[in-house]
Formats: sequence, C-alpha cells, structure tokens
Amino acid sequence: MKRSVLFLLLATVFFLTTSMAAAEPIIIKFSHVVAVDTPKGQAAEFFKKIAEERTKGAVKVEVYPNSQLYKDKEEMEALQMGSVQMLAPSLAKFGPLGVKEFELFDLPFIFDNYEELHKVTTGPVGKKLLDKLQVKGIIGLAYWDNGFKVMSANKTIKLPADMKGLKMRIQSSKVLDAQMRALGAIPQVMAFSEVYQALQTGVVDGTENPPSNLYTQKMYEVQKCVTLTDHGYLGYAVLVNKKFWEGLPADIRTTLEGAMRDATVFANKIAKDKNDEDMATVKASGKCEVISLTPEERAQWKAALVKVHDEMASRIGKDIIEEVYKETGFKK
Ligand code: LMR
Repeated sequence: MKRSVLFLLLATVFFLTTSMAAAEPIIIKFSHVVAVDTPKGQAAEFFKKIAEERTKGAVKVEVYPNSQLYKDKEEMEALQMGSVQMLAPSLAKFGPLGVKEFELFDLPFIFDNYEELHKVTTGPVGKKLLDKLQVKGIIGLAYWDNGFKVMSANKTIKLPADMKGLKMRIQSSKVLDAQMRALGAIPQVMAFSEVYQALQTGVVDGTENPPSNLYTQKMYEVQKCVTLTDHGYLGYAVLVNKKFWEGLPADIRTTLEGAMRDATVFANKIAKDKNDEDMATVKASGKCEVISLTPEERAQWKAALVKVHDEMASRIGKDIIEEVYKETGFKK
C-alpha cells in the first residue's frame, strides 16, 4: 500500500515537471527604434503587459526599444525572416518594402488633425493598405498614432524660403524626398538611430519629427530652431510575421488580437498629450528657439508644399489619394 502511494506521488511529480517543461512560453520579440517614453514605446509596454496577463504567461513579449536590436531597414528584413515577430515602423518606411502606397500618409498637409487621419486609418483605405502587406509575408494588425511634425534646423527657419540649401534628414520615403526638394532643401535618408549624432556633428542641418521624438532623442539640444509647422503626420502600423501569427494556437491568437485592440486604443489616446507635453518641455528648456506660426505664415508652407500631392500621384496612386480627399474633405 505504502509503495503504491509513493509510486503515485513520483508519477505525479514526473507528470507535473514534464508538462511544465512542455509549456515553454511563446516568445514575441517586438523591436522598435524610439525611446520607451514615447507614444509607441508606451503602447508597446502596455501591449506586453496585457498580452502576458491575458494569456496567463503562455506568451512572453520581449520589447526591444531604441534600435537596440535592429535599425530601420534591418528591422523590416528581420521581421520577414522571422528573427523578430512584431514591429511598429513608421508609415514612411514601407517604400523600400515595395508597398509605396503607405507614403500617402507623408503627403504634406493631407491631414489637418487626428480626426481626419482616423477616418483613413479606420476606413477602407486603411484596411486596403494593410492587406497589401500579406504578399510580403506580413500581417498589419493596427495603426498607432504618433503626431504632427515640426521642422528643426541649425538656423532660424520661419518661412519656406528659409529652408533653401539646408541638408535635411528624412525617413526612407520618396514623398518626404519630394517635400524637402519642394522647399529647396537637400534631403538625406538616414536611420533614426543616427539622427542625433548627424545633427550634432553637422552631417545634416536639420530634420522633421513629432515633438515626442525631438524631445526623447534630445535632438532639440543640437538644433538652433524648432518651427511648429505641423506640416505632415508621422504614425505607425503594427506588423507581425504572417507565418508566426497564423501558426499560433487559435485561442492565443484571439486573445492577442484583443490585447492589440486595447493597446491601440491606449496608443491613440496618449499620443497627442505626450507630444504636447514634450513640446512644452522643449520650449521651457530654452535650449532652442521655438517658433509658432500665424495662420498666414502656415498657409505659406502649405502653398509651397501642396504641389507634392500631384507630383507623387503616379507613385501612390491617383485613385487612392482621391479616396483620402473624399474621406477627410481635404481642399488644396
Ligand atoms: C523616424 O525615423 O524619424 C521615425 O520613424 C522614428 C519613429 O519610429 O517614430
């Protein structure tokens, strides 16, 4: 009798340890290039928290911020190869992947505010764009907001004419290239992780970014002037490796989809406040001149840049641009 109890005990211990070993968590490596304390950085942490809680530890999300793991271009390749499972690249970085329609988000002055932008990201155009990623082995799960861009440089830039001849760092988007050329500036594509140093050493004269990036990367400390142009939008698409995602157990995938929906609500709720707060901190620092524009001055930027829409119509697709105009009520 005693022996059989002991046997039962041993068998139970054996069963428990082997089943625990079998339940290794599924790892999601989530790589991104910005600081933790940004809208994207915070949303990635939030997703990690709720995804791990709701799957009761069956999924572990490892977030790698600040280009720790990969820089801009490499991270797309790493996702396709399955070296990471999740990314949230800026919508301005899909051209090199061959999905250039995403560059419509870079068109200067196409959105006046977040409400207009959301009409597109939550509407048919937003879905159509994400669907285009499937053939690249990628699934687009969501759009996450960042914000509207300011222009910065190592000299005072108030009006479009002040941009003439400046070397400006841009993301890898042909629309942004055309935008800088329309201002008479010289665009230079560069990975995000290299921008601070390039500004500091004078490799480039200036850049454009939402305040959250300008502040957390300390770019404002190595620029003379920041002008609140709000001339364009910068936001993200959250991507997963298709093979990985479709290979997940169905219940886990459903739980993660729910977590992503909630993380998206969170991301889009904090983005504007974070950018406003960071701009206020930059202003208060006194480290650079911060220029606000009158409506008339901002109209001059729009007049100089709106021609980029027609110039880029053949690249992005005239129809898709028209669809966006209809959704947002855009007027030239
Ligand atoms: C940039 O390269 O300027 C941005 O895409 C960085 C980011 O992810 O916000």
